[in-house]
Amino acid sequence: MKEADLLIIGAGPGGYRAADYAAKQGLKVVVFETEHVGGTCLNVGCIPTKSFARNAEMMQALKDSEIFGLNELDYKFDFQKVIQRKDGVISSLRSGIETLLSHPNITLVRGEAQFLDSHAVVAAGEEYTAPHIIVATGSVPKTLRLTEPAARPVLDSSDLLSIDHLPKSLCIIGAGVIGMEFASIFNAFGTQVTVVEFLKECLPVLDADIAKRLRKSLEKQGVTFHMQSSVTAITESGVVFTDKKGKTMAIEADEVLMAVGRAPRVFDHFSKAGFEFAERTGIVVNEHLQTTVPHIYAIGDVNGRQMLAHAAEMQGIHVVNQMIGKDDDIRLDIMPAAIFTQPEAACVGLSEDQCKEQGIDYICKKSFWRANGKALAMNETEGMLKLLASPQGAILGCHAYGAHAADLIQEVSVLMCRNTTIHQLANMVHIHPTLSEILQTAAE
Ligand code: NAI
Repeated sequence: MKEADLLIIGAGPGGYRAADYAAKQGLKVVVFETEHVGGTCLNVGCIPTKSFARNAEMMQALKDSEIFGLNELDYKFDFQKVIQRKDGVISSLRSGIETLLSHPNITLVRGEAQFLDSHAVVAAGEEYTAPHIIVATGSVPKTLRLTEPAARPVLDSSDLLSIDHLPKSLCIIGAGVIGMEFASIFNAFGTQVTVVEFLKECLPVLDADIAKRLRKSLEKQGVTFHMQSSVTAITESGVVFTDKKGKTMAIEADEVLMAVGRAPRVFDHFSKAGFEFAERTGIVVNEHLQTTVPHIYAIGDVNGRQMLAHAAEMQGIHVVNQMIGKDDDIRLDIMPAAIFTQPEAACVGLSEDQCKEQGIDYICKKSFWRANGKALAMNETEGMLKLLASPQGAILGCHAYGAHAADLIQEVSVLMCRNTTIHQLANMVHIHPTLSEILQTAAE
């Protein structure tokens, strides 16, 4: 039996960041990974999507070229080059992570780790034990349970990111984060995109007012949305659904993307370790990410808390700090998130809808991209920001859509971590002219 200080199952953002941090703190770490290092985020998630999103952004800018005096531009879209660039970005980041994991305190085992009991795992024919174990096995795409099996292959986000041709038409089931990002990207690439969503509004994580404006913006760019619609069948030619009036509708599409959420990736062998878990909700953890077997922790998507790469990373660091007895002030309750559509959207903390639902007293301050000098100069006039605060000024949340919304929300996130009030924010000098003034304007 090989011994270490810490075993980590999974080398995604949660696992590799925890391994790197633990190794630098002097712990001997063994990391197990069956696939490429970097997890969903690097290989089939955030990074390839953002690489595509950058292409989409450039193509969208070209559509407005005449506004900038670039008349009669002539160009050809080469999707194979888009794919090559995306693959290049992935492999360069992947080799960076492999370098991190080559730290003398880290052993990377390529193989599936299975629990033997609460202190030991087996992988690639060897048994390993350690006083602490982190499970960071991530998540998998969910699929719809339909009465008839799909009559054609249905893509998930990983499949669509490795597609080798540009579909003429694409039907996306689900207007969540994945659905909206792909709708925005493929629409900019020239694919005819239709989105079918069960709920009244897209992006359940976002303030409904902002989500609606973003949806309308994508509609103006050419995406078709069918809201409050329920998919009943996937046929050879496309998707059949019942629309909000109860009418049966059929859409033809070259490709169908299923984007109805992700489920924690759990395995039967977890039961040998003895901690509680469920297929739909993942591994049960307390506020310190401990499972019901206290020396085993679960971080990232597998605990079903916040399916975000940066959440997994910070959870991992928090867990290692507990192992080495180091206090930290990591605020896992203040978790910013971004949706990389065009324009992008982002949020941190409560939305106005949540304040209402929870009966919280609040003030809501709004500001608009169209009133900001830098936004006008950039020709990025679409966008709105809502800043929520208690009547005394404590920041409760901020939701926004518009160019670089994620950067603005990041500032709010930092302010929330430091308990800054909106009055203090209003008095903080912001560079002129920058989009950050949109936030300051809201606080004023
Ligand atoms: P999601 O939970 O964000 O959205 C799923 C959508 O599918 C919901 O709007 C839901 O109402 C809809 N839906 C469910 N059943 C349906 C049905 N029968 N017919 C039509 N619509 C249906 O899940 P998504 O977009 O798959 O993303 C999975 C996870 O990955 C999320 O937790 C997300 O936060 C994370 N992610 C984060 C990204 C980011 O931070 N930029 C990028 C991509 C994913």
